[in-house]
Amino acid sequence: MNLRDYIRDIPDFPKQGILFFDITPLMADPKAFRHTIDTMADRFRSVGATKIMAAEARGFIFGAPLAYTMGIGFVPVRKPGKLPYKTRSVSYELEYGTDTLSMHEDAIAPGEKVLLIDDLLATGGTAGGLVQLAREARAEVVGMGFLVELSFLDGPGKMQSIGISYDALLS
Ligand code: PRP
Repeated sequence: MNLRDYIRDIPDFPKQGILFFDITPLMADPKAFRHTIDTMADRFRSVGATKIMAAEARGFIFGAPLAYTMGIGFVPVRKPGKLPYKTRSVSYELEYGTDTLSMHEDAIAPGEKVLLIDDLLATGGTAGGLVQLAREARAEVVGMGFLVELSFLDGPGKMQSIGISYDALLS
């Protein structure tokens, strides 16, 4: 099954010059969605992760069913002001301004093995934020997975510069 066939290209969304990869057809197709989660599970089953961390909103779509399939825990990483308990946060640079990601401070125990999941690696800002949060929690990042990587943007180089290897189903 070629998962690329289930991703719809939307030119000039959300702004002029951006080609948006719309993953909703993939999610709406039961075989394609199951194939995505099962393929990720096969790739990461051997890494020994005990938790998956994923960033809202699109990271949840893949991270939560993957955690269920792998029989491990799921840790939501959210935009500020959403989590009710004590949080740790990181801010990272965007092209214009900064963004912040938060997680509950007790969500990952020191030394715990975590798998980081998102739908897309573009500039690597979000992925870098997830790595930073995991490291600040003194977790061991044992894998990182994406549905799609945009190899012409900065993400791959950024992941290399912070010492993280990753796996993308489509590039
Ligand atoms: C998208 C996507 C990734 C991130 C990738 O999320 O789901 O998390 O951007 O881009 P980057 O590599 O440049 O950080 P977005 O921030 O649009 O939020 P959403 O998932 O809530 O739509």
